[in-house]
Amino acid sequence: MQIVFATNNLNKLKEIQQILPSSIRVLSLKDIGFEGEIPEDYETLEENAFQKAQYIFDRFQIPCFADDTGLEVEVLNGAPGVYSARYAGEECLAENNIQKLLLALQGKLNRNAAFRTVVAFVTETEKYSFEGKVGGQILLQKQGEKGFGYDPIFQPEGYKLSFAEMLSSDKNDISHRGKAVRKFANYISSL
Ligand code: IMP
Repeated sequence: MQIVFATNNLNKLKEIQQILPSSIRVLSLKDIGFEGEIPEDYETLEENAFQKAQYIFDRFQIPCFADDTGLEVEVLNGAPGVYSARYAGEECLAENNIQKLLLALQGKLNRNAAFRTVVAFVTETEKYSFEGKVGGQILLQKQGEKGFGYDPIFQPEGYKLSFAEMLSSDKNDISHRGKAVRKFANYISSL
C-alpha cells in the first residue's frame, strides 16, 4: 500500500516511516512530483490538516495524510495555536517565537500549555483524523539544545527536562506528534 504524506519536512517523513509497518510505503511530495505550496487557510488544526490532505488527494488520487500542530497556552486562550509557526511574523525564526511567548507570559503564574497534533487521512471513500496531545509548562527561560520550535521552553508534565533536553526517541514516546502518528499507524495497519 502506498500513501502520500503531504509535508515538505523530511524529518517527519523519516519518523513516520519508522513507525508504520514496512508494508506501507510512505511517499513524499517529491516522490509524486509535487512542487509548491499547499494551502493552510483555516483557523483550526483539524481543518488545516484536512485541507492539506484533501488538496494532494484531489490532484493525485493517492491516499494522503497530513498533520498540523499547535502549541496551546492556557492563559493566552489557546494562542499561538494554529499560528505557532508564524507567531512572531510570517518569516520568523523559532527564536523569535520563543522570545515573543516568553514576553507574553512575563509575570504570569499560570504557564500551563499543551502541544496538540491532528493527523488527517483522506482516501476516495474515507476521511479520518487522529489527535495527540501532551500537556506541560512553559519554562521561564530556554533549556537544552535539541529539537526544534518551542522545544527549549516546553517541559512536559511529569518530567524535569524540557523537550530540547530529551533524546528524540524519548520525546517521540510522549509527544503530541508521536501519539497522533501511532494512532494513525494502528488504524492503517488494521486495514
Ligand atoms: P507543524 O504543523 O508540525 O509544522 O508545526 C507548526 C509549528 O508548531 C512549528 O513550526 C513549531 O513552531 C511548532 N511545533 C510543532 N511541533 C513541535 C514540537 O514537537 N516541538 C516544538 N515546537 C513544535
